[in-house]
Amino acid sequence: MFNFFRKSGPKSLKWHVSDALKRKVAIGHFNISNIDGFWAVVNASKKIGVPVIIGVSEGERDFVGVAQVRSLVDSVKAEGAPVFLNADHTYSFERVKEVVDAGYDSVIFDGTERSFEDNVALTKKCVRYAKAKDKNILVEAEIGFIGKSSKVLEGIPEGVRIGEEFLTKPEEALRFVKETGVDMLAPAVGNIHGMLKGGVDPALNIKRIKDISDAVKIPLVLHGGSGNSAEDFKAAIDAGVAIIHVNTELRVAYKNALEATLRNSPGEVAPYKLEKPVVEAIQKVVEEKLMIFNKL
Ligand code: 13P
Repeated sequence: MFNFFRKSGPKSLKWHVSDALKRKVAIGHFNISNIDGFWAVVNASKKIGVPVIIGVSEGERDFVGVAQVRSLVDSVKAEGAPVFLNADHTYSFERVKEVVDAGYDSVIFDGTERSFEDNVALTKKCVRYAKAKDKNILVEAEIGFIGKSSKVLEGIPEGVRIGEEFLTKPEEALRFVKETGVDMLAPAVGNIHGMLKGGVDPALNIKRIKDISDAVKIPLVLHGGSGNSAEDFKAAIDAGVAIIHVNTELRVAYKNALEATLRNSPGEVAPYKLEKPVVEAIQKVVEEKLMIFNKL
């Protein structure tokens, strides 16, 4: 396993994304909030022998530390591990600038709650700044609102509509990509942020993914991966998805494992002992997803 890391360590995220696209697999993107999540993702990546992206939303990276999470990822990168760091959903130019300056491997500007024109204008500004600073950084943007929270949902999030007529249209995706110069695009294709209670989300619209991919000819990123089926993931990858985001399922694994371990060890006070089963529970979910995304 470690040979794999030594061989592919120095390659950039850009290289890994185009390699994934070529090989018709996807890189797993997993959000973390603390060191438990960090080790769960890194351990799973090492065990399965595939690259991964660690994602931190604005809230997650404020909690871990914008620079500190960069140092954590650098520490395993220094060992040759293909582990990359993405600034997930970033809502302002100022916060994009912050992570570009901190040396993140990729950043997502999320202007989905703005008008199409404002989203284009701000995305363009972010792309210009990021590329001037670091030619290897990948900038992703989104069109189509799919909700905002990685949580267990009672129903489809407010403001999200998954009927075919509300999904991202190939022609608007093409216009957006041409005008902004983004490296990757996250469309609304039936996916939702968060996971419906019961664990099964609506099916993805694979044909729409393919039509958007054929139109824009850049890698697509699938957000809201919790609750989707293995079949849908594989079909989405074949249709042009190169990165898949998962968060809610990891948060649920974290909470369930933490509750169980606290219940089962009333006399234990050492956090590293209490949290070992928590890391293992998150890692199990990450490993399962990596097997699917890499068609192993
Ligand atoms: P889920 O919480 O639905 O897995 O979505 C995660 C995500 O897309 C983070 O960007």
